[in-house]
Order: sequence, then structure tokens, then C-alpha cells
Amino acid sequence: MTFKDIQTVKTTPIAGQIPGTSGLRKKVKVFSEPGYLETYTQAIFNAIDPTGKTFVLGGDGRFFNSEAIATILRMAAANGVAKIIIGQNGILSTPAVSHLIRKRSADGGFILSASHNPGGPGGDFGLKYNTENGGPAPEAITDKIVACAETISNYRITKDLPETLETLSDLGTHTFNGIEIEIVDPVADYAALMEELFDFDAIRKMINAGFTLRFDAMHAVTGPYATEILERRLGAVQGSVVNAVPLEDFGGGHPDPNPVWAKELFDHMHEPNAPDFGAASDGDGDRNMIVGKGIYVAPSDSLAVLAANAHLAPGYARGVAGVARSMPTSAASDRVAEKLGIKAFQTPTGWKFFGNLLDAGRATLCGEESAGTGSDHVREKDGLWAVLLWLNILAVRGESVADILKDHWQTYGRDYYSRHDYEGLDTAAANAVMADLKERLPALPGHPAASLTVSAAEDFAYTDPIDASVATGQGIILTYEGGARAMLRLSGTGTEGATLRVYLEQYAPPDGDLGRDTQEALSEVIAATSKLANIEDMLGRTGPDVVS
Ligand code: G1P
Ligand code: ZN
Repeated sequence: MTFKDIQTVKTTPIAGQIPGTSGLRKKVKVFSEPGYLETYTQAIFNAIDPTGKTFVLGGDGRFFNSEAIATILRMAAANGVAKIIIGQNGILSTPAVSHLIRKRSADGGFILSASHNPGGPGGDFGLKYNTENGGPAPEAITDKIVACAETISNYRITKDLPETLETLSDLGTHTFNGIEIEIVDPVADYAALMEELFDFDAIRKMINAGFTLRFDAMHAVTGPYATEILERRLGAVQGSVVNAVPLEDFGGGHPDPNPVWAKELFDHMHEPNAPDFGAASDGDGDRNMIVGKGIYVAPSDSLAVLAANAHLAPGYARGVAGVARSMPTSAASDRVAEKLGIKAFQTPTGWKFFGNLLDAGRATLCGEESAGTGSDHVREKDGLWAVLLWLNILAVRGESVADILKDHWQTYGRDYYSRHDYEGLDTAAANAVMADLKERLPALPGHPAASLTVSAAEDFAYTDPIDASVATGQGIILTYEGGARAMLRLSGTGTEGATLRVYLEQYAPPDGDLGRDTQEALSEVIAATSKLANIEDMLGRTGPDVVS
């Protein structure tokens, strides 16, 4: 390496540089303060020793993406990194980064995104470090990053690289003073992987025969991916991908694919002229929403349907080894696992907890209630992957989304499920709700609450079956006699105040009432949980802000 002007710049630990559920997320105005990104990036470098290594770098294109990439690049060069693989113009979806790390046997990657959080100058930004398996750094590494951030005294940066990102539009390998910078097409490798996993001919045939679809890219990173795959390769008519142009502020929207934020698509799918299939993805392309004509598929149900039918796609013809879900995700996929005679895993919230199970071949499919589904093809959840697996299943079964979902409930029963979010809370008040409930946990079994009785109460801790690492305090699970379940935890992805998430589920067997309104089916567990946890009283609220 022959950098002439490596600067060692003095810095001091910055309060709050602690990664949450999915990397470090802060307001753009915080991330862009002088030295903020630099200090955290150096903490990552200090934790992993990047000398001579190769990394993938890219983001969802949100405001501050280009500046952040330029800074990380200059710091990588000054820290002795051998090679950086970057998506053209700094763009890579989160699953595409994961795939590139694996395909190129890179040592890790840097993902610039705050996922579904709004973007723009007043929005959010984030940085997540992924390891060589392509997945989010496990806690052992994030703990090390935190320790390095707490003791940091300087960062290293060079100006020997171009100040602007102009050169990042030229595909190919560029060498600057010893560091190799390879600019790759963000879509090509990812699209090729999808072609390996799914029967594109069968899907194309279905579309040629008149099957219609709409994919809402929400002005986020999946626009180019979905246009290439759904329109160009699979033949969906031009315009099937809407809001396809990625924008730095996502067009002022909130790129979270759920009935609240993807309302336009959701409503369209309930109109008489709705297409056969609707889907959306989030800011960085790892989440998905699936909607059939007139019917919404809850993410927990989607995971279960995919697990039951995955063998219909070529990439999963060998079957599914195991299914993993996060603790607050409904038990619907457990029922499929039981029937298939395979293992069901319950992990803490956050994709990083699936990594070891996927690496060890213990789980093939994973999912979270928060619109995340994925498999062992990468080590992130993957929005377009879920869309394509659904399309492959629809093409093979020749039935509608509604028929497939109803058939699923008739076979396995239905897990009515909803998440209630209390947002913008005073952090101390939110912590107090959790602490108070925790203190009372041992006394809860046998305790009546509204019309239900608690049968078990647990402060969820997880021991990783592969490396025996332990994660404690991952949320509270209240189980009621009769099979209802409630989970409570605080969000780890917000950038302002606190959010309390209350997850609620109630099982109805195959011969039970499968056609109820979800909130009505959950009314008993909602009342019992709100009473037990004193939610409204302690928070001074009359109800949740978001019901999904
Ligand atoms: C949220 C979701 C969680 C997901 C994470 C990253 O985290 O609930 O399932 O893994 O975003 O996409 P939370 O805000 O609940 O900590
Ligand atoms: Zn995301």
C-alpha cells in the first residue's frame, strides 16, 4: 500500500453508538455530524482487523448513501483493506449484499440502510456490518464493536481516493494506490441466483396465460431488481412494477410493506379490477408483503404456507430441513414443521439469530412476523425471493392466493395474529412497563386476567443450539389457558423515544371458526394482556398507535 496522506484523526467515544436489532440506526442529522460515521466505522474496523481483507459495500440509495460510501471507502483504504466490491452508484439491496459476500467469498460487508424507516434529510440512516457468511454480525461481534466504540481515540482516513463517487458508475475494477475497487451491477448476480432457485419457465407460462400482478417498490431499492426480474425476465407487462424509481427520500413515503404503509397497493388489491397477485418490498429490499385478490397474507401465515409448499420450487425440491421463526412470530410455521416431521426453532427477534441455524443446515426457511422471510440461499431476509417463491407455488398449484391460504387453514388450523405498537413513548416509561411485568412474572401462572387465565409466563432467553451463546431479556411471553399467547418487547430499531410492541395470537383448529375478523378473534387475549401489563395506565395511552 502506498497511500501518501493517511491521516490519523483524533476522536472520542460517542454516546449511543450501539447497534440495535439490525445495525446502528440514527437520524441523518446525527449520522452526518462531523466524525460520527467515521468514529463508528473505525470501531468496526478495530473490532474485525480489516487488513488485507475484501468487503462488499452498498446501500439502499437513501439520502446520505453516497457520502457515507465515499467516507467508508477512504477509511477502508487507510485501514489496509485489500479490496472493496461496490454496487454501481453505491446501490445494493440487503439480500444482494449478502449474496455477493457469499459468492465472492468476501470477508464481510457494510450495508447502508435504515430499512423501512423514512429517508431524506429529516429521515433515518443506518450502518450494519455483515460477516463472511453474508449475515448480520452475531452478538459476539457487535459486542466487540461496542467495546471498541467505547474506547476509541482516533480514526484513519485518506484523501488519496476520489472525493466524489463519479467513478462508481464505471463497472469493472479500478485500482487506487493499492486498494482494488470493483464496481458491479447491483442486479445481475442476484437475478441469476433467483433463476437458479425458481422455475422461471413455469412462472412465465402462468403470466403469458393471463396471470396479472402488481409489485410496489415504494420508491426504494427493489425498483431495478423487480423491473428486471418480474417484467424483463418473467414477462409481466410493463408497469406491473409501480413506484419503481428509487428516490433518496422514497418519495416522502414510509417504505414499509404492510397494510398501513403500502395502503395504495393494499386497497388496489381489494378493488374489483385487482390483479391476481400483489406484493411490496421495503427500503433495502429484505421485507415483503403478499396480497392476493381481496386477501392479505399475514407474514406469519406466509412463512407457514411457504414452508408447506417450498418443495414445489426447484431450489427446495430436496425438502426443508427445518423452519425457524422469531419468538413473536405466530406458531403457524411450527404446525407445518410438525406435520413434515422437521425441527421448528424459536429465536429472538432479529435476523442475526438465524445465521448459525442456516450455516449448520438445521433450518432451510426462516421468518419474522415483521414481513421478513428468507432461506439458506443468503443470510438475510429477502423480499423478492419471497415474492418469487409465492409465484412459483402459484404456478405449480394453479390456484389463487385465497384458495391456497384457505386450504392451508383447513389443514393446519389458523393462528389469528396481530401486533399492537405503542410508539413515541418516553423511554423510562416504556422500560418501567417491562420491568414491572418482569418482576411479577413468577406470580402470574394461574393468575386470572379478564376472561383468561395465565398458564405460563417467561422472560425469553435463547441458547443458540450451534455455538451455545446465550441471549437473555429477549421479551416476555405470556401463555394463556386455551392456547392464546402474548409477547411484549421494546423495539430495537427506532431512532426516537421507545416503541412497545405487543404481539397477540390465538389458535383456531381446522374445524374451528376460520373466517373471523382478526381483532375480534383476538379480543380476549388483547383485554387480558393489556390488563396484566397495565399498559394503558402506565403509559397514559388509550390504545395502540399502530395495529397490524
Ligand atoms: C424490527 C422487527 C424485527 C426485524 C427488525 C429489522 O425490529 O420487529 O423483526 O428483524 O425490525 O428489520 P424491532 O424494531 O422490533 O427491534
Ligand atoms: Zn429492510
